[in-house]
Amino acid sequence: MPNVSETVLRDLTIKAKDASQHAYCPYSGFSVGATVLTETDDIFTGCNVENASYGLTICAERNAVLQMVAKGKQRIKAVVIYTPTPKPAAPCGACRQVINEFGPDALIISVCDGPDVLRRQLTQLLPDAFGPEDLK
Ligand code: THU
Repeated sequence: MPNVSETVLRDLTIKAKDASQHAYCPYSGFSVGATVLTETDDIFTGCNVENASYGLTICAERNAVLQMVAKGKQRIKAVVIYTPTPKPAAPCGACRQVINEFGPDALIISVCDGPDVLRRQLTQLLPDAFGPEDLK
């Protein structure tokens, strides 16, 4: 399990919540924010971006991962997801798969408007994942 201090987690949580303010979600009205912490301790943020062609929606987590890659980083240590819900919500299946590409051992932390926090390793959320090694 990657080691992430409580101070860094607090920062990641604040940034994920801030990012959710930028969500483009006119169809669902559900604003999600995510932060990615890299192995070099860089932080990238993302929000969900919906589309009139609903299936083209990008989740906050994938947006944050793509921001990371666009800045030349490729190793994820942790992901924090904020949802505006009373209970924390784990990332969707598509996001789990995309996180796996760059952080198979990543720590995944879901926060919300209530006191509960969900802490998981990606391996728990996506056991026996298909990844880069399977193409060899
Ligand atoms: N959403 C995310 O951004 N992340 C998730 O892990 C689950 C769902 C977004 C997609 C859509 O814009 C809205 O939440 C409702 O599903």
